[in-house]
Amino acid sequence: MEYGHFSEDNREYVITRPDTPTPWINYLGNSEYCAMISNTAGGYSFHIDPRNRRITRYRYNNMPTDRPGRYLYIRDSMTGEYWSPTWQPTLTKLDNYECRHGLGYTKVSSLKSLIQSEVTYFVPTDSNLEIWVLTLKNTSLSEDRWLKVFSYSEFCLWEASRDQNDLQSVQFLGISRFNNNAILYHLFDESTGYAFFTSNEKIESYDCNRESFIGKYRDESHPEAVEIGECFRSEGVGGNPIAATCSSVILKPMESKTIIYVLGVAQDKSHIKDLIQKFTDKRNVDNEFKKLSENWDSFLSKINVETEDSDFDAMVNIWNQYQCRITFDWSRYVSFYETGIGRGMGFRDCSQDILGVVPAFPLKVRQRIIDLAKNQFQNGRVYHIYFPLTGEGGFPYYVKEDMHFFSDDHLWLIPAVTEYIKETGDTRILDEKVEFVDGPPATIYEHMQRSIDFSKSMMGNHHLPLLGTADWNDPLSIPGPNNAAESVFAAMLLHKSLTELSELSSIIGRETEATKYSDFASKSKDHLNKVAWDGDWFIRAFDDSGNPIGSKKCEEGKIYLNAQSWPILSGVASYERGIKSMDAVKEYLDTKYGLILLNPAYSKYYQKIGALSSYAPGLKENASIWSHANAWAIIAECMLGRGDQAYKYYKQLAPPTKNGMASIHQAEPYVYAQTIAGKDHHAFGMAKQSWLTGTASWMMIASTNWIIGVKPQYNGLLIDPCVPTSWRSFRMTRQFRNAIYDITFSNPNGISKGIEFIRVDDKPVENNLLPIFSDGKTHKISLTMG
Ligand code: GLC
Repeated sequence: MEYGHFSEDNREYVITRPDTPTPWINYLGNSEYCAMISNTAGGYSFHIDPRNRRITRYRYNNMPTDRPGRYLYIRDSMTGEYWSPTWQPTLTKLDNYECRHGLGYTKVSSLKSLIQSEVTYFVPTDSNLEIWVLTLKNTSLSEDRWLKVFSYSEFCLWEASRDQNDLQSVQFLGISRFNNNAILYHLFDESTGYAFFTSNEKIESYDCNRESFIGKYRDESHPEAVEIGECFRSEGVGGNPIAATCSSVILKPMESKTIIYVLGVAQDKSHIKDLIQKFTDKRNVDNEFKKLSENWDSFLSKINVETEDSDFDAMVNIWNQYQCRITFDWSRYVSFYETGIGRGMGFRDCSQDILGVVPAFPLKVRQRIIDLAKNQFQNGRVYHIYFPLTGEGGFPYYVKEDMHFFSDDHLWLIPAVTEYIKETGDTRILDEKVEFVDGPPATIYEHMQRSIDFSKSMMGNHHLPLLGTADWNDPLSIPGPNNAAESVFAAMLLHKSLTELSELSSIIGRETEATKYSDFASKSKDHLNKVAWDGDWFIRAFDDSGNPIGSKKCEEGKIYLNAQSWPILSGVASYERGIKSMDAVKEYLDTKYGLILLNPAYSKYYQKIGALSSYAPGLKENASIWSHANAWAIIAECMLGRGDQAYKYYKQLAPPTKNGMASIHQAEPYVYAQTIAGKDHHAFGMAKQSWLTGTASWMMIASTNWIIGVKPQYNGLLIDPCVPTSWRSFRMTRQFRNAIYDITFSNPNGISKGIEFIRVDDKPVENNLLPIFSDGKTHKISLTMG
């Protein structure tokens, strides 16, 4: 409650003071146009690809933080007093302030000098523009108010990387001009298209050049134009093009007025007029806002839970799903921390993000699988990243010269496809033909086979997958002259991929392949249990000289989290070894804010470990609380049947838990952050890199498929809950293959796992695999645990 709370219906997070420990942000957008906005209106926009189609600027890591943004200034013409209704950039103390981050919109309300304002920012569902709706009200009962309202946004060059690294040249390319109540921005070479800014209100004066509006040696907090009460009517020809406008508003006592601002892009200049006409009309804007809300209703309608924990419900029903949608759209590419220039859409990241949205977005997932498969080479390895505008694939700058692959990337394609088919039943996707980067088309099934072939062809001295540049753990990029490091994690993922592909092969009648993959899987299981078991837990990797990493023998980094959860997730560990490993996790990795990734943290740089040990102890992969990996641990505990332990791990990481400790956690308490400083850092508990993390999809899977325990299978919906013993009754409504499964659970004896009986539409059934009804109807299922 320090900085805010969820609204009563949980569909908004309400921030009650503007000076949050970090900018608390929201993503507004429609998969093409994206506008990131903080609780004080900082942030930036891009179209399709933040690298090539950057619309507005953001100065990452700026002082003061979080600038520029979508700014408004209100100036009293009688007194000259001015302020920003979103607090930034003037930072004027407001008489009250509230920001509501909702699904696809952000609304900031404030009061200052008896002027009440409310500004709602959103992106319509299918137009490449953003709308800012400002309503001003004069709350005085006796006095008229003469106001000037200014708007401000700063254009970027489309090419965001050039905008940051080629200063001497970028200052000569952009043109911004006012004409017919709108500002039009483009490069001198107009082929890259246009941005425009307009308002339904008469723009009385404007500035298109940043230095004119702001003035010399000033910043956005006190622009010269706002100070004098009028813009300078500057043109932007070269320099720093902006769109700044000024309009007069006169309000009688208790009178209100609404101003609409529109910022958008168009490839073709002739479309702009129509867009302006449509979106400056209040009725159309209201309709679009309604449509946005209906869209979200539909997105969220596939899964719904009612449990004894309202925070769990708020996450599963709304915020976790919301975050899954954003990570699906933008992977790890673009945020307030990811600059949207280098990283592109990650192959492994996208493959995992798919898991969180398959129920809601099957068609988009199908397309994403095809886009990903285009990034595979004939030998089965894949590009690490790709760029959404061009589809062009690539590798990050740190990829090892002679190791242009990661040991895990290509394997993630397999669970992405199998989970998609389990949800939808669409086995036809397996026959879709997709070209390799370096070769002719092959079916998706063949692409999956090539992933296995590649791992098989890249085995090291312990007969485990060679690490390549790294595995899931990006900085575990173990160096050495022999390129001989091996990944136990990748071996476990390979085992999981083999069992999945074997099952799928059997489903589609390819028995020879099914047997081939299951034989390989059982060999790899025995082998892993021989070479990777350390006595009380599994080791994580072998270094370049063949020494174990994540072993009791190591000086530091003796135990790694993923090496304990993945033997269970992958089916490699026996029950006994699983329990031992997860008990070791409890003993050595658990902290009050979540599970750390390894222990003890590396206290110095180790040549043989490499990049991972270059992070300060307790930060990032060097023993921070890595949220994504916590989700895997929760699943592992559920698989072992330890519902209380799983729920403890769930709760200590869940964003609402952070609400009461926001000054420690710092990041938004409505979404997961990638990493939280571990016990070895002085800021233990401080989260970084909110929003874009694989935690979103895996926490969704952990909560719905494992805690509530409702899992799509090829031939039905499997129910197998693993809950905290305190839960006595709960419910899930799940849309699956054109039917609604309304499942009520009762747990009279307070156990975690076990089913006494199940009734489907009032008839007892034998097993816990519910049939595929496909009849468009709702089916009542009641399950009693015992
Ligand atoms: C980042 C990367 C992801 C990686 C993780 C752990 O989230 O985007 O691909 O698995 O870090 O290193």
